Amino acid sequence: MQKVTLIPGDGIGPEIAESLKEIFAAAKVPIQFDQVEAGQAILDQTGSLVPDNVYQKIEENKIAIKGPITTPIGQGFRSINVSLRKKYDLYANVRPVKSIPGLTTRYQDIDLVIFRENTEGLYIGEEHYETDDHNSAVAIKRITKQGSERIVKSAFEHAKKHGQTKVTVVHKANILKLTDGLFLETAREVATSYPNITMEELIVDNMCLQLVTHPERFQVIVTMNLYGDILSDLCAGLVGGLGIAPGANLGDDLAIFEAVHGSAPDIAGQDKANPLALIYSGINMLDYMGLSDYARQIENAVLKTVSQPEHRTADLGGQLATSAFTQKVINYL
Ligand code: NAI
Repeated sequence: MQKVTLIPGDGIGPEIAESLKEIFAAAKVPIQFDQVEAGQAILDQTGSLVPDNVYQKIEENKIAIKGPITTPIGQGFRSINVSLRKKYDLYANVRPVKSIPGLTTRYQDIDLVIFRENTEGLYIGEEHYETDDHNSAVAIKRITKQGSERIVKSAFEHAKKHGQTKVTVVHKANILKLTDGLFLETAREVATSYPNITMEELIVDNMCLQLVTHPERFQVIVTMNLYGDILSDLCAGLVGGLGIAPGANLGDDLAIFEAVHGSAPDIAGQDKANPLALIYSGINMLDYMGLSDYARQIENAVLKTVSQPEHRTADLGGQLATSAFTQKVINYL
């Protein structure tokens, strides 16, 4: 049986990870979770947010699924999520955004996926003060041809594999002529290898407008790190919120699946969190592993559950606790 590293994380992480484990067990998914701890609780015990055994297990099993991890503010900590992506060169942050049938939001029929470059841009952490009085600060945005090429290629390959006809490249090259200009130029070059797929170019501010007016017209979106981060929260809001938004961090030989949301300290430990985002991340992980029969079985059970308003958690307008929602999904399985 294939092993998958499970990192529950902190905040609502342990509650939603429990839900994932119970649902996978009920569906008899042929994987074994290799669980390791990271986050605030383990920091208090060991002085390290991510102990060495977490890295060992990620490297050993090559596939991991993780809950959110709180980044302590103002104590010199770098985000664990950003560090993991960098360390393992997980350059593609893939975030599918899909309307859930029966779940009424302002929009219907949204089915798009965001490919966010995950290792470059403004997230490289190179910032400094320009003056001794600290009244002027600078952040460096790094864009490389190689980094741009591989993320755009991933987006086009995804479109090709799923029979989609359009890839939208999001940029601000009218202002950031060198960095975003390089990304856009590289995208244009990559696109020439995919004659059956149209490449659409949109400036990021216009993209925001288009997404809140006509989101159903997008299929595959590819963009740089910061724009991708912001657009994916915006898109999560279009289909029902952070509680249902899954994600994956993919490299060439290692993958970490995780929900888009954070550790939600305001509801942690209260059995209120929606576990769907992590469950959908798990479903996408099963597809990635070639276990699509199990993925569809769980997805169908989830859809049957959520289609009934009384079978939803509070963030989706329902009243179910995390544990009760989990039981409903298991009943459908
Ligand atoms: P957040 O995503 O944790 O919460 C934003 C809002 O959405 C809160 O009102 C929260 O209750 C709600 N929410 C989030 N997930 C939910 C769920 N599954 N069910 C129901 N409601 C949900 O964002 P915030 O507050 O900005 O970040 C909190 C902490 O999480 C920070 O320390 C941040 O660094 C960390 N974080 C970690 C991430 C990760 O590990 N991948 C990603 C984003 C943030």
